[in-house]
Amino acid sequence: MTKPATFPLEDELGDVLEKAIRRAGLSGEALALRAGVPLGKIFDAIDYRADLTGEELRRLAAVLRLNEVGLCALGSGQYPQPEIGALPFCVWPLRMPHGIGVANAYLVGECDSARAILFDTGAGIEALEAVWPRCIRQLDAVFLTHVEAEHAGGLCDVVARFGVRAAFIPLGAVAPCGRGFGEEEPQVFGPLEVRAFTTPGHAAAHNCYLVRAPAACNGGSLLVSGDLIFAGSVGGAYFSHEQLQSSLHRVLGATPPATVIAPGHGPMTTVENELRFNPFVM
Ligand SMILES: [Fe+2]
Repeated sequence: MTKPATFPLEDELGDVLEKAIRRAGLSGEALALRAGVPLGKIFDAIDYRADLTGEELRRLAAVLRLNEVGLCALGSGQYPQPEIGALPFCVWPLRMPHGIGVANAYLVGECDSARAILFDTGAGIEALEAVWPRCIRQLDAVFLTHVEAEHAGGLCDVVARFGVRAAFIPLGAVAPCGRGFGEEEPQVFGPLEVRAFTTPGHAAAHNCYLVRAPAACNGGSLLVSGDLIFAGSVGGAYFSHEQLQSSLHRVLGATPPATVIAPGHGPMTTVENELRFNPFVM
């Protein structure tokens, strides 16, 4: 087991409150009234100047239907980041600055091989090249979680550069160089198997991918979650709050607790950690 380097969470308390308020369809005034928390303190928290007591956070969690343990942990800057267990393959997180944030892509492959599979392609080939591990010289396939500039910008360049035969994108998404891939049979690359979950919510066409090595003694698995779930938060529900929640519960319920989550933003986490603490998982 290794303790990962601690990376900043994608969302702070203010982001989580803002997403939850939108999901609840409440005005700030209505939330303040129902939770008994001064409106100014709610707005301050959304502006990253939180001064909420533990009791106020618990009342906000109750009204907004959030996991109060996780919300209070976020509020105190102590959101747990779990140890990441050993996987039967290697994962190279590619963290690329984008705008004011960081977008993640991931390479997954056998540890002693120069071949890998790429999940998401960042904003462009230059950003990818800046973080590309020299040991990876061949790509068997590319999978996109969703077609958004910060995650899919480099797709055609990557396909051309590596002569990739297969670039899989969510069914219903449109991207040059990609072909739709849903929950049919998994794709197999040597010892690795990639299965898609159709997970609308952040976008109408969004996939998560479960990577396993079925024949390995260590049965650990990796969930590439795109912008469905982050450590301590979820992606913006730009397509549908209801569908995002239902995708979230479906994926977390269908994957073993020890599954490592590799999100589109922020640090890696585990299914178990997010089931216990993620504010949006009740
Ligand atoms: Fe994103």
